[in-house]
Amino acid sequence: MILRRAILFLLLAIGSVQAQPARRHMVAAGHPLAAQAGLDVLREGGSAVDAAVAVQMVLTLVEPQSSGIGGGAFLLHLDGATGRLVAWDGRETAPAAAGPDLLLRDGRPIPFLTAMASGRAVGVPGTVAMLEAAHREHGRLPWARLIAPAIALAENGFPVSERLARDIAGDMLLLRRDPGAGAYFFTEAGLPLPTGHRLRNPALAATLRAIAEQGAAALARGPVAEDIVAAIARHALPGAMTTTDLATYAPRRREAVCTPYRRWRVCGFPPSSSGGIAVAQILGLLGHFDVARLDPRGADAAHLVAEAGRLAFADRNAYVADPDFVSVPTRGLVDAGYLTARAQLIDRDRAIATPRAGNPPWRETRFAPQQQDFEAGTSHVSIVDGDGHAVAMTTTIEALFGARIMVRGFLLNNELTDFSFTPEQNGRPVANRVEGGKRPRSSMSPSIVLDGEGRLHAVAGSPGGARIIGYVAQALVALLDWGMTPQEAAALPHVGTIGGAVELEADTQAATLAPALRARGHEVQIREMNSGLNLIRVTPQGLLGGADPRREGVAIGD
Ligand code: GLY
Repeated sequence: MILRRAILFLLLAIGSVQAQPARRHMVAAGHPLAAQAGLDVLREGGSAVDAAVAVQMVLTLVEPQSSGIGGGAFLLHLDGATGRLVAWDGRETAPAAAGPDLLLRDGRPIPFLTAMASGRAVGVPGTVAMLEAAHREHGRLPWARLIAPAIALAENGFPVSERLARDIAGDMLLLRRDPGAGAYFFTEAGLPLPTGHRLRNPALAATLRAIAEQGAAALARGPVAEDIVAAIARHALPGAMTTTDLATYAPRRREAVCTPYRRWRVCGFPPSSSGGIAVAQILGLLGHFDVARLDPRGADAAHLVAEAGRLAFADRNAYVADPDFVSVPTRGLVDAGYLTARAQLIDRDRAIATPRAGNPPWRETRFAPQQQDFEAGTSHVSIVDGDGHAVAMTTTIEALFGARIMVRGFLLNNELTDFSFTPEQNGRPVANRVEGGKRPRSSMSPSIVLDGEGRLHAVAGSPGGARIIGYVAQALVALLDWGMTPQEAAALPHVGTIGGAVELEADTQAATLAPALRARGHEVQIREMNSGLNLIRVTPQGLLGGADPRREGVAIGD
């Protein structure tokens, strides 16, 4: 942690993390080379979506452990001229042949670590199809121009970053089992690639060339699609994806979830993500308390943030899944009256013993709560272009290095482990059970904040699995209630929850809150909290960016 803080200080000193406001446009992304590719597109007059395409293609190469063309993504777009928001859903889907027993063996859940690195876990990728659809509507520069920076970097090579080297070394056993990943991420002597190693990826360059020429069809049909299906089928724990699954994948265009918070309007991603609803609920509950007066690093604020999170997770686990399969009471879950009633459950001095899902209005059915949730490898991109259009895109291949299956230079996701492994509890179905063609529930929370006049105020998001919800909610409170700069908000020690215990970030001031929270009846866990917040805020001086010191992202603009 000390080393990472020292690196952040160094980055600030050499200007990689922008300390001055940008006047025109800005990109905040998980790797400097990806952010630079996006900024170059903006300088050429490209739109925020154009920049997002360029960023994503480079991230596939330079941050392969987190996201890529073999995964899924959610992109929230604000049209700066009309104020219209569109939520572009590029979430992976289960193959048509998948059923409720996909993640079971002999009626019991397959161990997570086994399921995660397997053909069984791979969902039909959606990122490229979604970006293509968004580009068709909001793009300005030609598609092929946006893929070009990633092709050049894949051919010429890029230096392996400290984080990538650490992740390869930490994941050696699983990565080496796959012939593609084993050949790519290790030296000829079989050692994990070291920091600074110049890594070329000609196979990815060829795939990207095909995408530049044919668009998403290059992944959906033909030789790349056939290789994806073959790699999944020959895995020791195979999946049942077919080329028809790939050819029939369709991104969805959805309505953002927008709710008031104090004098702002916070817009998040609707189901199949649980993120937009849960962040809206946390803020809606906190809106009943004068959070601005509380010490951001004190136990009172930590208690309220945790209680709001625990209530939000109880609803999330019971109600949220793919809306194409399950009737999700989105409107009821963020209803002001419902949240006022839920806020009455919060006692300033005492933790709720066991938060349970509520009974929101417009609820049609009640499902059994989902039990498990796991960590993830994901990345977030925030972009504002010169016309005030904004993109908040969270993108993922799920776990670090996804399913650990490499095809034609990119990794396949393990997103299907975001489904409930068990389809029912005590005879009642779980909303997020596996079904053919269904999107697994996500926690990704790309967010856009508008001011009282409906103008852009902030763009936010983070990786972190189910913890994304808490990271984003805490960052929004830091920006909106505590008036922090994006950099301060991104660096704030984490207090969060994924429904049970309060989690405090190890090796930070937050960990010192443990005794005070235990005294209020909380179970407390102190743990590493691996967020990757990338934030942009509109200020009278211009655009201010913030990149999470826990990862390698930067916020750059001019
Ligand atoms: N796989 C991370 C998420 O979608 O929440």
